[in-house]
Amino acid sequence: MDRALYDIGVPILGICYGAQLLAEQLGGAVERTGTGEYGRTGLSCSGTSPLFADMPLSGRADVWMSHADCITSVPPGFAATASTPGAPVAAFHNEQRRIYGVQFHPEVAHTERGQQMLERFVLDVCGARPTWTHTNIIDQGVEAVRRQVGPARVLCALSGGVDSAVAAALVHRAIGDQLTCVFVDTGLMRAGESEQVEETFRSQFRVDLVHVKAADRFFGVLAGVTDPEVKRKAIGETFIRVFEEVARDVEDAGFLVQGTLYPDVIESGTSEAATIKSHHNVGGLPQDMSFELVEPLRCLFKDEVRAVGEELGLPEEIVWRQPFPGPGLAVRIVGEVTPERAEILRAADAIVIEEVRRAGLYGELWQSFAVLPAVRTVGVMGDGRTYAYPIVIRAVTSDDAMTADWARLPYELLERMSSRIINEVAGVNRVALDITSKPPGTIEWE
Ligand code: XMP
Repeated sequence: MDRALYDIGVPILGICYGAQLLAEQLGGAVERTGTGEYGRTGLSCSGTSPLFADMPLSGRADVWMSHADCITSVPPGFAATASTPGAPVAAFHNEQRRIYGVQFHPEVAHTERGQQMLERFVLDVCGARPTWTHTNIIDQGVEAVRRQVGPARVLCALSGGVDSAVAAALVHRAIGDQLTCVFVDTGLMRAGESEQVEETFRSQFRVDLVHVKAADRFFGVLAGVTDPEVKRKAIGETFIRVFEEVARDVEDAGFLVQGTLYPDVIESGTSEAATIKSHHNVGGLPQDMSFELVEPLRCLFKDEVRAVGEELGLPEEIVWRQPFPGPGLAVRIVGEVTPERAEILRAADAIVIEEVRRAGLYGELWQSFAVLPAVRTVGVMGDGRTYAYPIVIRAVTSDDAMTADWARLPYELLERMSSRIINEVAGVNRVALDITSKPPGTIEWE
């Protein structure tokens, strides 16, 4: 690190390698002692530090570590404030220069009081004011949208998901009737989704809503298509064409609202990520359409978006809905997507969701849904032979969908889902459970 940074007078917090770098550059010592630490370890505070203002009186906490080298002596003028069994200096500082280092990771969820340590640094040491509240985010967002669009008309594609719903509600608060929302019913939505969008946006918020019933068109382009990538592209393309047709009827629409979040902004900055699946984002800008984008959620993470959604008065079912892919049920129907197969999957999916909710697990799972494979198997119901589709239950826990683990659902819940799906959904005679994590699997089947 450029040493000049130490002299510009701004507070510095070094974490892990950052702490070692501070120690090394400022005249302390970093060595390999042969006692690295990986995972949970016990921290003991040995001195006072503004970072530890929220620590228990015992001065002990479980923290998360990942280091092979250790800081063995602090730089001149610095004080060691904590240690662990494998790190003689687990925290150190020079309060006057406002330079702090911690060997452990305060930013991970498993570090006790880690969040508070970061807060103490940001608020007490740096003197930042906590004005980044949900109300302020909304006020600033409203102001920014008004400034950006002036008197122009604005379009927004609603998907039924939380991001586009919150973006639309925020823009609506800013410019009211200047906003037209477009909901394209692809025939590949979850049960009750279209009704929910109608009820919330048309009845409750009184938004100018164009509801395009385009199921036939989507099933038309999907006829005979079985390749997942071809399916995704066909849906993305059709979505854009339908959207364009609506846009043409809305005079002077020069702006398009997108529910882009901060993680999308970060991800789109990487050029090396391999294409695993062609993501289709509802509201994605058609290449040959000239809209200026309005992205009021660009600086927010998902949890902040949800908090903003609640503050704006969106219903819980929308705000806390599990993520749903742009191409909808199509990427959960292996093989050809037909209206009949979509109906089977929608009915089974509704049962999975209903039972997960009833078991009180909906909020704990990243996603839980049904998948329809392209095989049929033999069964027996009553006195007769059946030859019908299986349904696969897919439920995962995850923090960000980049990795995921299959959820250990209770047997009783699985049993209820299985018997209800087979009894209530015509065309299904078997239920299976997907126990693949990501990687190597992906969350969706296609
Ligand atoms: P995979 O299946 O790649 O999915 O593990 C990761 C997350 O992304 C969602 N997903 C999509 N979301 N458009 C979206 O907006 C898409 O085309 C798309 N494909 C997958 C998926 O539901 C999971 O949460």
